[in-house]
Amino acid sequence: MAWLNRSLIETRKLGEQEIRQVLKRAGELKKLWRGWRGTEFPHLSLRGRTVVNLFFEASTRTRSSFELAARRLGAHVLNLHPEASSVTKGETLFDTARNLEAMDPDLLVLRHASAGAPYQLSKILKIPIINAGDGFHEHPTQALLDLFTIEEAKGSAKGLNVLIVGDIAHSRVARSNIYTLRTMGARVSVCGPPSLMPPLARELGVAEVFHDLRKGIADADVVMMLRVQLERQNQMQFPSLGEYSRFWGLNADTVQSLKKGAIIMHPGPLNEGVEISQEVASGPYSVILNQVNNGVIIRMALMDLIFDGGSKAGGDRRRG
Ligand code: NCD
Repeated sequence: MAWLNRSLIETRKLGEQEIRQVLKRAGELKKLWRGWRGTEFPHLSLRGRTVVNLFFEASTRTRSSFELAARRLGAHVLNLHPEASSVTKGETLFDTARNLEAMDPDLLVLRHASAGAPYQLSKILKIPIINAGDGFHEHPTQALLDLFTIEEAKGSAKGLNVLIVGDIAHSRVARSNIYTLRTMGARVSVCGPPSLMPPLARELGVAEVFHDLRKGIADADVVMMLRVQLERQNQMQFPSLGEYSRFWGLNADTVQSLKKGAIIMHPGPLNEGVEISQEVASGPYSVILNQVNNGVIIRMALMDLIFDGGSKAGGDRRRG
């Protein structure tokens, strides 16, 4: 099947087959990457291409993994830092993007604080766009790498109970995960203080809304912890971070309520001691660093599919 989605803006519209296609390609590329010992990676499907990373919000994992992924596949990468660009002189997002496109790049990776910014740009640009997080709307590649990590650990997401804990209302990670996990047959519930739950959680397809962490995690196969996104709140939605941690933090004590074989995830950045303790984050249940490793792999898979469509990873399809 050829990859028909040139851009990736949201997971809400991704079907099971398309998601499966990305995961399959990620599996192939991971195997190839792990087994590779030579000087030149044998799958340079982006050779001669240029990828532009345009990040208007802070990022460690997402930005670096897009860059590494593009480089591994042979692309050139341009990282534009808005704080050092003409954005500071009043240039708009649209003009910035149009000018970058005039330099003939092949792909734009965009992170922006405004929900809908990648969608708006996709209407005016001819090159594909990957949404690397827009406001509290979506973060599609995070959800795909989370799903890939879940399937590695648990075999399949189908029928699993997934609990997402924390600041659901402001989380693009939660939203994208709810869509992809439900499409793949998982049962997704959320947990946290009432003030951080989206008003229409059920309409997003959530099975249960918990306010008690111990009750929520008792039946979960996957527990996904989220950071409290203070930068997206006009005012703090709970009395204090200490209080938040006491009720909704995962620590040596609360982790006792987990099912055997359950996994703990976190998209990062972690606020250690708030939503998760250091010992739990690096403990036996945690797959947090697997998520980071898979972040590069999933982004390789996606860019590979965008430029290399239906053929199998590993074949010799270098441009001359
Ligand atoms: C998240 C993001 O930026 O949406 N992090 C990430 O991309 N790995 C989550 C967050 O900021 O808390």
